[in-house]
Amino acid sequence: MRRLSFVVVLLAAAAVALVQAGNQPIRARNGMVVSQNAIASQVGIDALEDGGTAIDAAVATAFALAVTHPTAGNIGGGGFLVHREASGDAIAYDFRELAPAGASATMWFEDDEYSFQRHHMSHLSVGVPGTVAGLYLAWEEHGTLPWRRLVDPAIALARDGFPVTHALAASLERAVQRMSQHPASVAQFSKDGVPYEAGETLVQPDLARTLERIADQGPAGFYAGETARLIADEMRANGGLITEADLANYEAKKREPIRGTYRGYENISMPPPSSGGIVLVQMLNVLEDYDLASFGFRSARTVHLITEVMRRGYADRALHLGDPDFNTDMPIDRLTSKAYAAEQRASIDMARASVSSPTSFTWPAESPETTHFSVVDRDRDPVSLTYTLEFGYGSGIVVPGAGFLLNNEMGDFNAGPDTTNADGLIGTEPNLAAPGKRMLSSMTPTIVARDGQLFMVTGSPGGRTIINTVLHTILNVVDFGMNIQEAVDAPRFHHQWLPDRINYERHGLSPDTTALLESRGHALREVGGQGVAEAILNNAENGLLEAALDGRAADGGAVGTDR
Ligand code: DON
Repeated sequence: MRRLSFVVVLLAAAAVALVQAGNQPIRARNGMVVSQNAIASQVGIDALEDGGTAIDAAVATAFALAVTHPTAGNIGGGGFLVHREASGDAIAYDFRELAPAGASATMWFEDDEYSFQRHHMSHLSVGVPGTVAGLYLAWEEHGTLPWRRLVDPAIALARDGFPVTHALAASLERAVQRMSQHPASVAQFSKDGVPYEAGETLVQPDLARTLERIADQGPAGFYAGETARLIADEMRANGGLITEADLANYEAKKREPIRGTYRGYENISMPPPSSGGIVLVQMLNVLEDYDLASFGFRSARTVHLITEVMRRGYADRALHLGDPDFNTDMPIDRLTSKAYAAEQRASIDMARASVSSPTSFTWPAESPETTHFSVVDRDRDPVSLTYTLEFGYGSGIVVPGAGFLLNNEMGDFNAGPDTTNADGLIGTEPNLAAPGKRMLSSMTPTIVARDGQLFMVTGSPGGRTIINTVLHTILNVVDFGMNIQEAVDAPRFHHQWLPDRINYERHGLSPDTTALLESRGHALREVGGQGVAEAILNNAENGLLEAALDGRAADGGAVGTDR
């Protein structure tokens, strides 16, 4: 009998070893890149295997994404990179687009009427791009491989082409319809107007030549000379504002990351001009005082509480945050303090939803097209990078002769002074357009450390939902004990103060749960996917890097190395 039970125990142990609960992450010992495009992740890993740093790999991946993931990968947009060193020092690189010198707070008005088209879909919606300057600055300070080595793989992908996937074929077909008034865009992304099919090769020769100039000259290959002239010509011919001088004056900036603590973990995230880090830290501070694990994952009580916390975080975002170079009095220390969190807790009623009172405003719709990737190198130095063109394919305008898409990031500025209305326009001061000003972002590239060691790298696309997607990923690991893949897979929800509604992913809440939430006063709506949280966890127990590929998007890749 004793022998039999021994055998049973042994068999049970073997079964556990073979089949672990939950989806498993991808594991590697000496480096990992996870991005929304498998080719680009491989390019990053190649850089690590050539002896490069996490920054080298990030730069190579970012340039590759600009070729293979044209919805959001870019050189004509902007973004943020957060980096931490083994010493615990961390730095944030801000390469957000900014408003050209000719910009004004009322620039989207036509005959005294605000125009959505001008704000989001025209040459006036294009901000001065930051990506090339930002990648170069980060590389100058933390790269070890030659600059050209990092741009070369992207040049080859643009020059020789790469196979179009089913997802890309479908996406390009839709995009080309939207871009029909821009001949250079149609030429770049279709075969003379005929859609690419899966398996065909997408070749981008003009982009290859632009990347060559960047490889040769660094930022001058983009912000001066031929590339700058091609951008400025396109602007002049179409009522846009960006001039050669705007391009020459663009500067990427280094910023102090936002830091916060949560149950012994340290969060390092993006400061303004992103709202991401501040709102994330603020929300975690409020939640720290509750035993979420005992409330249960996605119980009505948990969803109610997290919703109340999101509501408050997003209200503060709208009221206080904008470009730090133009808003020198933002209450950042207060918003991220534990004392403020205690005040917010006191205002939460666990039995009843608060009402988001539109003192004045709500938010306009935003598309979910940005891209995030995470990198960790052999020294466990991480890079968390999110960059964007704003809408999928940005403005839809490919610069003729230069082969890359321009962003429509100016749409992230508020619509104009006194435009606040119930239909979704915002007119608050901190985020009105002005010459040289950066538009407020929600991008939240984040690094989590514990006991002085790297713990997690995460971030996401998704417009304003980004901050909540990052929040869920952290809570799912820290409070609900999920592995990183489970944490990324788990259904998400989002509340952003106004509209006063919980958006939850399809099948993400049971009917009994939604009924309980409605009885507390919440409005709910089922939506499609929320975000694409490509994440890496540094697992102290097995000594391995564990990557989660977010299955909400096709074509992604988590690639590791043991070399
Ligand atoms: O900076 C921002 O917050 C937005 N422009 C990001 C846009 C975005 O995430 C769209 N898609 N995912």
